[in-house]
Amino acid sequence: MTEMISVLQEERIFKPDPTLSQRAHIPDMAAYKALVVQAETDHEAYWAWEAERLISWEKKWDRVLNDDNPPFYKWFEGGRLNASVNCIDRHLGRRSDSSRSGRKNKAAIIWEGEPGDMRTITYQELANEVNKLGNVLRQMGIKKGDRVVIYMPMIPEAAFAMLACARVGAVHNIVFGGFSAEALADRIDDAKAKLVITADGGWRRGAIVPLKDAVDQALLKCDSVEKVIVVERTKQRIHMHYGRDYWYDDLVAEANIRCEPESMEAEDPLFILYTSGSTGKPKGVLHTTGGYMVNAARTTQYVFDLQEDDTYWCTADIGWITGHTYVIYGPLALGGTSLMYEGVPTAPHAGRLWEIVEKYRVNIFYTAPTAIRALSKLGDQWPQKYNMDSLRILGTVGEPINPEAWMWYYRVIGSERCPIVDTYWQTETGSICISPLPAATPIKPGSCTLPLPGMKYAVVDNDGNPVKEGNGGMLVIQRPWPSMLRTVWGDDDRYVETYFAKFGDKQFYFAGDGARMDAEGYYWVMGRVDDVINVAGHRLGTMEIESALVSHPSVAEAAVVGRPDDVKGENIFAFVVLQDISDDDFHHDALVRELRDHVTKEIGPIAKPDGIKFTDNLPKTRSGKIMRRLLRDIASGRESKGDTSTLEDSTILEQLRGS
Ligand code: PRX
Repeated sequence: MTEMISVLQEERIFKPDPTLSQRAHIPDMAAYKALVVQAETDHEAYWAWEAERLISWEKKWDRVLNDDNPPFYKWFEGGRLNASVNCIDRHLGRRSDSSRSGRKNKAAIIWEGEPGDMRTITYQELANEVNKLGNVLRQMGIKKGDRVVIYMPMIPEAAFAMLACARVGAVHNIVFGGFSAEALADRIDDAKAKLVITADGGWRRGAIVPLKDAVDQALLKCDSVEKVIVVERTKQRIHMHYGRDYWYDDLVAEANIRCEPESMEAEDPLFILYTSGSTGKPKGVLHTTGGYMVNAARTTQYVFDLQEDDTYWCTADIGWITGHTYVIYGPLALGGTSLMYEGVPTAPHAGRLWEIVEKYRVNIFYTAPTAIRALSKLGDQWPQKYNMDSLRILGTVGEPINPEAWMWYYRVIGSERCPIVDTYWQTETGSICISPLPAATPIKPGSCTLPLPGMKYAVVDNDGNPVKEGNGGMLVIQRPWPSMLRTVWGDDDRYVETYFAKFGDKQFYFAGDGARMDAEGYYWVMGRVDDVINVAGHRLGTMEIESALVSHPSVAEAAVVGRPDDVKGENIFAFVVLQDISDDDFHHDALVRELRDHVTKEIGPIAKPDGIKFTDNLPKTRSGKIMRRLLRDIASGRESKGDTSTLEDSTILEQLRGS
C-alpha cells in the first residue's frame, strides 16, 4: 500500500480562554508537556503515580506492567480493588477517614426520561440500590466471573445493574437496547451469559421499544441463560415466564442494603462489549478492572476537567463504550454528577437536548458528530431558545467531525466561548487516547490534536515506519496502556491477528484508522482505512471529500465511497443530503455541477466526485456511524451481503436503490 494522500486544509486555530486555566486540572500547555515528559521518562512510574492518585486499592500491585508475553499485557498485577467501591463507597465519607470527601448527599446521577419524568440519585441512594441488587444477583447464584447481559433503556436501573455486577465480580455484557433479538442472541450465546437484566420496554421517539419481547425471542436460541430480571419502565403488557423471569422491584424490595464487595484482582474481567468489524462476527472486547478504572478516571479528569460542582452530561447510551466509560465509570470514580437521558435528541421536539442543558445548568456536554450534524440541520432557532451559558466544555466522539459541523457546535452551542474536545478513541482502547485538554490545547476544527500523556502514537506506512510529516498513513499505538483491551472474548488468536499482526515483531497496536500528523504534531484522523478510495493509485480518505462537500452551503451531510472503475481502479461516488430537500430536479443537475466544482476548488480535481446522488438520509448504525460498506454496494449496483442488523432504519436501502 502506498501512503494515503491528505487533502484537507484547515488553517483556523482557537486558543484556550485564559479564565479556564484558573482551576483546571491541567491549566496550560506547560503542565501538559510536563506530564508528557514524566510519562516518557519512566512510563511505568507515571502510570503507577496515576493509579495511586486516582483509584482506591485494597492492596497495592506487585508489578505495574507485565510485558513478558506480548501482546497479552497485564497491568497492576497483584493489585486488588473493586470498581463499585471506587464509584460509590469511597465517596460516602467515613468518620474514621478524614480524607474521604463525604459526598453521600451529592447527586451521583441525574436522570431525565424521554417523556419528561425525572429522578436524582444521591451517592447514598446509589449505594443502597447497588448493594440491594448485588445481593439479589448473589441469591440468584451469580458468582465472580459469571457473565450477565444487560439489555436496557437508559434508566437509572441500567447503571445500578452495571455497578451491581462489578460489586459481585460478575462480568457485564451490555447489549444496546436498539439491537434486534438476533443480535442479542449472538451476544448472549458468545458470552455464555447466565442472567439477563432487561426492562418491559423503553421510550424512544414517543414509542415503546419492546425489549422484553426481544429477550423472549433471543432466549429461544440461547440455553445458557437461567434467569431474567425485568424492570418495569413502560408498564406495557409483557409475558413473564414462570420460574425464569422476575420483577426487579419485587426482588430488591426484599434485599439487604449491605452487600460485601468482591475483592477483584486488577486483571479480573470487568466487562465484555461487542463491537462489529467490517467483516466477520462481532468481537467481544474484554476489559479488566484495574487498568480500565485508572484510565477512565484519569481521562475524565484531564479531558473534561471535571470539577466537584459540575453537572456533566455525556449523551451516549450505556450500550456503547462511551456510555461505559464516560456516563458511569469515569465520572462516578471521580465523585462527579453524571446526567443520563433516556430518549432521542429530537423527541418530542428538536430542542430537547438544549432544553435539558438549560434545565440542569449543564457545564460539560459530550456528544457525537452525527447528532451535531443532524441538529445543525434543524436550524439555529432551536438552541437559541434556551439559555446555555452554563456550558464550559463541549466534546465530540465517534467519527471525524468535519470542520463545518465543528464550527456550528463552537459558534451556536458554545457561543464561541467553550473549547471543543474532539476525543479520539475506540471500544478497544477503553478510554480517550488523543484529545485536546480544554484549558491547555489550542484547537483546530477537525483535529483531535495531541495524544494524552503516556499514549505513544505514530502514523506509519505498511512496514511500520513513520511517514513524512503531513502525509497520511496508518495510526498505531507503539506501547501498551492500562485501559487497552486484553483479548477478544474466547478468541486469543483473533485478538493477535486483528490488532497486533500487521507490523510483525514491532508489536504495534493497529485498529484500522488512517491519519496524518501536521507540523505541530496534531493528529487528523482520516477515517477507517477500509474507507479509503484508491483513485489512479492515490489513496484518498473519504472523510476529507465529505468535509469539502459539507462545506458547501446547500449540503447537510455527505458520504463518499469508491466504485470500481476500469481505468482509475476506483472512482468517487457521493451520497448527499441537502439542507433543503424540496429543490427540484433541474436545480439538482445544476447543483451536481456546482458541488463537483466546489470539491475541485476545495481539494483538487483528483477528489472530484464522478457521481452524486441526492438522498433524504444515509444508512447509519444505531450509534450514528455511516455504513459505507452498504453504500459501496449500492454505488456499484451489487447486492448487499453481510450483517445489516445494526442498521438504524432498514427501509433506507430500498430508498437508496430506487430511482
Ligand atoms: O474510526 C475511529 C472513530 O470511531 C472508531 C471507534 O469506534 P467505536 O469503537 O465504536 O468507539 C466509538 C467511541 C469511542 C475509531 O476507530 N472515531 C472515534 N472517535 C473519533 C473517531 N474518528 C475521528 N475522530 C474522533 N474523535
